[in-house]
Amino acid sequence: MGVRIIGIGHYVPDKVVTNQDLEKIMDTSDEWIVTRTGIKERRYASPDQANSDLSYEAARVALARAGVRPQDLDVIVVATVTPDMSFPATACLVQARLGIRERPCFDMEAACPGFIYGLELMRGLLSLGDTYRTGLLIGTEVLTRIMDPLDRNTAVLFGDGSGAAVLVKDDSEFGIISTYLGGDGELGNLLYLPAGGSRMPTSEETIKNRQHYLKMKGREVFRHAVQWMQQSALIVLEKAGMSPEDITWLVPHQANIRIIDSTREKLGLPPEKVYVNIDKYGNTSAASIPIALSEMQEKGLLKKGDIVLLVSFGAGFTWGAVLMRWG
Ligand code: UT7
Repeated sequence: MGVRIIGIGHYVPDKVVTNQDLEKIMDTSDEWIVTRTGIKERRYASPDQANSDLSYEAARVALARAGVRPQDLDVIVVATVTPDMSFPATACLVQARLGIRERPCFDMEAACPGFIYGLELMRGLLSLGDTYRTGLLIGTEVLTRIMDPLDRNTAVLFGDGSGAAVLVKDDSEFGIISTYLGGDGELGNLLYLPAGGSRMPTSEETIKNRQHYLKMKGREVFRHAVQWMQQSALIVLEKAGMSPEDITWLVPHQANIRIIDSTREKLGLPPEKVYVNIDKYGNTSAASIPIALSEMQEKGLLKKGDIVLLVSFGAGFTWGAVLMRWG
């Protein structure tokens, strides 16, 4: 039993924040940000926009491109670390905005590889007999709400955005070919959000100590990201009995151009086989891969039969890859 993406869409907020804008408010430079990360600008949600607003816009585009009506959806899953609120799930808020009821809707959290984990989850759900035939998966973040605007180590990296995919059961040769997921909780403290959960509930103290903002030991995260992005890509290829030469497109998580380049080099791929948009959006965590796929679709870059390799790494640590035949 296979699963195939039949429509993909994305939404990014209008507000563009450039490196030059950041130079004015913190001790950083365009030169540092571009050479160390590849980022030139990113999008910020407006104060009245929450995650479900971005998700709804991305979902509308994906549904229209798929030719699927909201009422034809059997399940909605949102992958995010920045939900509107702890509960109800952002997926339920999106369901309401889409004007449908009485379908399962829930959020899942796997940080940056959330969309990759979500594809595996959808593959499982859609294989449960005839219970679910059509699913909506959204990878989406409003990271600017959890990043410390005064911390130059993280504030230059992240942006907001949303990407959505409509998936169906499909027994043809198109769709997901192989998947691989991994994780290592021992390293969770290298990239985390200390306060606001049950371990450290929000208090005056946590706010004073800026513990409701994400913390990252960038250099150490970088090392693990390089290792697991490379390894995940090789594992899904091996599972499929394919080699790097078979890949039409590598679509990596957009966290750092140097991580993307190292993954590309390990696979021996030329730059023109890798989709990169980190310069425009920065790191949008779970949204980065579906935004990339949607842009590629809009530009006519994805052709029926293309072999597309998705690979990601993030907080947890979590990592994973999906190999698919586009169509
Ligand atoms: O998406 C989830 C996974 N996340 C990632 O994969 C991110 C992985 N990590 C990275 O991408 C990189 O580690 C960063 C981009 C976060 C940082 O790059 P780096 O080359 O590892 O820099 P660093 O943290 O080792 O810092 C080097 C220097 C430091 O100065 P000193 O101590 O050498 O004097 C930093 O203080 O760069 C300084 N620095 C900055 N300078 C100007 C850090 N941030 C900035 C900044 N502007 N924004």
